Amino acid sequence: MLLQLCQTSCNVLSGGFMESPVRKPLKASRPEAPLAGAVTVPGDKSISHRALMFGALAVGETRITGLLEGEDVLRTAAAMRALGARVERSGADWLVAGSGIGGLTPPEDVLDMGNSGTAARLLCGILASHDIFSVMTGDASLRKRPMQRVIAPLRACGARFTARGGDRLPLAIQGARDALPISYRLPVASAQVKSAILLAGLNARGITEVEEPEATRDHSENMLRHFGAAVTVSRHGDSRHIQLAGQPELRAADIAVPGDPSSAAFPIVAALLVPGSRITLTAIGLNPLRTGLFETLREMGAALTISHPRIQGGEPIGDIIVEFTELSAIDVPPGRAPSMIDEYPILAVACAAARGTSRLRGLAELRVKESDRFSATAAMLGAAGIRVEAEADDLIIHGMPAIPGGGEVATQMDHRLAMSALVLGGITAAPMTIDDSTFIDTSFPNFVGLMRGLGAEITPP
Ligand code: S3P
Repeated sequence: MLLQLCQTSCNVLSGGFMESPVRKPLKASRPEAPLAGAVTVPGDKSISHRALMFGALAVGETRITGLLEGEDVLRTAAAMRALGARVERSGADWLVAGSGIGGLTPPEDVLDMGNSGTAARLLCGILASHDIFSVMTGDASLRKRPMQRVIAPLRACGARFTARGGDRLPLAIQGARDALPISYRLPVASAQVKSAILLAGLNARGITEVEEPEATRDHSENMLRHFGAAVTVSRHGDSRHIQLAGQPELRAADIAVPGDPSSAAFPIVAALLVPGSRITLTAIGLNPLRTGLFETLREMGAALTISHPRIQGGEPIGDIIVEFTELSAIDVPPGRAPSMIDEYPILAVACAAARGTSRLRGLAELRVKESDRFSATAAMLGAAGIRVEAEADDLIIHGMPAIPGGGEVATQMDHRLAMSALVLGGITAAPMTIDDSTFIDTSFPNFVGLMRGLGAEITPP
């Protein structure tokens, strides 16, 4: 017992990547046959978090269809419940009922946001303008991630924050009694920071303003309008200026969550790389601020077509048909990063198999994701025998016609790294293994089952 206690606290205190009690390693090998079939990937993670949060701030009952039931989103569901909203599963849908803006109640215990930066940062925004006290924490990965980027602007509404080391979870929050509207220019392109400020603005009197120098995903703006808030956006070159009128009456509004383009990215790249493959992915979100990877893959020569484009719940969606293609190297400009920020590890896999040398520019933000994805992506490629260099914030990847493989990838509690490495193992001469697959469930439950259904060879080592 004493030993067990010591092990638990040692893990917690170390801040290292030791939190998963039972690691589940996996091995990916070249499949015998091409990948084939039609699949639907789970719901969009960004939209799912927002649907639960906005539903909990609205008056009435919101029905959510296609909610991502991944660990990250389930943390948001639990947090909104702890703050007094009714959040429950009803058949395949989810129902959320709140009592309006300002109607949250103090949580009785610490809010544990698990692995999710989006859940933690957006919730900071909500809590900043509610006169309640709360404490937030997360897993070893989330506790390493910077929170100052939301704390600093949110202080301007009158909220008080005390964070470990000034910048890290655990974090104590005393929300403002009578919140002031914030006016802020984002120093980094971050939809999470933008959304946190807009969410704080919901319970502030007056106009909240955010200026973003580069456009980031606009699901918050779209969904706020869907719930009845007055949000205006004006564009000046690359930058966007967003204004939100405070204290709107948010009215419950049903939401159909599209398939997550960031999850679709994994089977898409797998099909592009495994010779002879052809797969279809149905009802994938195609918001133009999320489709940087698809644009980049097309520039690399990928046979990737969109069929049945349509609008669902205010977001463009469509079916994607992908066929094996011999890809060419690419030079990706830094300005594209916000529209594909989560896709660099899997793009790096595509670049490793492409003809020529690719350069992915301006990746500073990758260093503060679920892991230091900049270094971890380079290490993943290195473990497969691919030559990769880092120059300032750029990654340079030398494509190879035949990748040796045979390495083990340390996934560092990072779901996207784990999935990227498993896709990589589908094309290397010797199989690739990953040390732990448990974190895949944060964003893509049943990833392994879906990939196996398409013909991928993923097994315990
Ligand atoms: C997200 C924004 C992105 C992204 C994350 C989801 C969101 O983070 O990496 O997975 O839902 O707003 P940043 O906005 O911090 O770049």
